[in-house]
Amino acid sequence: MVILDGKATADTIKGEIALQVEEVIRKGGKRPHLAAILVGDDGASQTYVGHKERACKQVGFDSTLIRLPDETSQERLLAEISKINGNSEIDGLIVQLPLPKHIDEQKVIEAIDPKKDVDGFHPVNVGKMLLGLPTFVSATPAGIIELLSRYNIKTSGKNCVIIGRSNIVGRPMANLLSQKSNPGDCTVTICHSRTRDIKEHTLNADIIIAALGIPEFLTGDMVKEGAVVIDVGITRVEADTKSGFKLVGDVKFDEVAPKCSYITPVPGGVGPMTIISLLKNTLIASGN
Ligand code: GUN
Repeated sequence: MVILDGKATADTIKGEIALQVEEVIRKGGKRPHLAAILVGDDGASQTYVGHKERACKQVGFDSTLIRLPDETSQERLLAEISKINGNSEIDGLIVQLPLPKHIDEQKVIEAIDPKKDVDGFHPVNVGKMLLGLPTFVSATPAGIIELLSRYNIKTSGKNCVIIGRSNIVGRPMANLLSQKSNPGDCTVTICHSRTRDIKEHTLNADIIIAALGIPEFLTGDMVKEGAVVIDVGITRVEADTKSGFKLVGDVKFDEVAPKCSYITPVPGGVGPMTIISLLKNTLIASGN
């Protein structure tokens, strides 16, 4: 069993991106600049945005964080997005999700200039991704593809079961892995809350991607010997630690890992790879 070390892989790729940025600057090009908007004070979102800002600094990008209070109106948020759309200094823009309940998330996503939508959430970019055209692919699925690729994991002809049908992970992941590409060429099944017998599907899977957000959902009895298991879950659960919580994945690691050929840990698996995709998309958005 091999543990897919997302942290180490991400560090390697950050080094590669940093070299590319140095080269761009040496040739008189523009330093990539990512802006992030964070509405409210959700603890997990603050942590994620903090990680993204730190990663930008590590590779030599500029970054701007715009913090808005929880009670920010939709109009005010849309005005902020419009300002950034028109700011040629800023190459990429992300609005951290989830947003407060009174804001229409889809309206906000559609307000972002697709050319700056480095999260790949805008319908124009989702459409291009579906057609297999070059575009900004949403960060988590792109990070998983990169991890499979860096570890040279064979996907062609494999049965892949994705648990979870979110717009951010499950559905784009299913599309990417079913495309005629490497990694790709999988036979993909999407399982969700209405699937009758998830275990029947997972036991037949060569690759399982758990992205449903239920801690330790995937147990040892649901996985066949030699499977590749990718854990997208990161739920904060209360624990006797300094921060008062710990991060738990969607996979019961201790039971599942011994049966796997490859498995991602939580933390240190998919999470760091997600940030890499965001950096790569921002580099592209900057014209480099
Ligand atoms: N919330 C959870 N994942 C993401 C992501 O990839 N991008 C943004 N903007 N918000 C998120």
